[in-house]
Amino acid sequence: MTKVTMTINGKAVSGEVEGRTLLATFLREDLRLTGTHIGCDTSQCGACVVHVDGKAVKSCTMFAAEADGADVATIEGQVNEDGSLSTIQAAFQEHHGLQCGFCTPGMVMSAAALLKDNPKPSEAEIREYLEGNICRCTGYHNIIKSIMAASGQDLPAVAAE
Ligand code: FES
Ligand code: FES
Repeated sequence: MTKVTMTINGKAVSGEVEGRTLLATFLREDLRLTGTHIGCDTSQCGACVVHVDGKAVKSCTMFAAEADGADVATIEGQVNEDGSLSTIQAAFQEHHGLQCGFCTPGMVMSAAALLKDNPKPSEAEIREYLEGNICRCTGYHNIIKSIMAASGQDLPAVAAE
């Protein structure tokens, strides 16, 4: 077992992990941060996306030990300080960017990473960025619409109602 220490959503956290323990497993099973979902475990679906040192990462593709010393953000840390939904989360709610909600934590974390680097992405840029996030309810139009709205842009015609 190896001791790991990291900052998660602004709080210092430590734990003991095996070399094979995935970051996703550490978050969900050791820390009970179950907002990070595991939809495939094979690096395809993006339900497990978190931020590690400010970059969107599929937490099923990273060992917990590799995140030792890192600054990690999960969906639990996305709400505003007063507990209200973040701009992105509120836009997903308003524009029906979720159906069953399974992909939503990963979608929101990917969207947050995108908007940090590119505050006004085009529809094509959003679609390309979300290539690694799968929605099995196929709610893509409303997800794009939500991210466009969160970035303060007009909604794309293809997603307009
Ligand atoms: Fe990580 Fe699917 S669970 S990409
Ligand atoms: Fe169901 Fe995306 S809302 S998987």
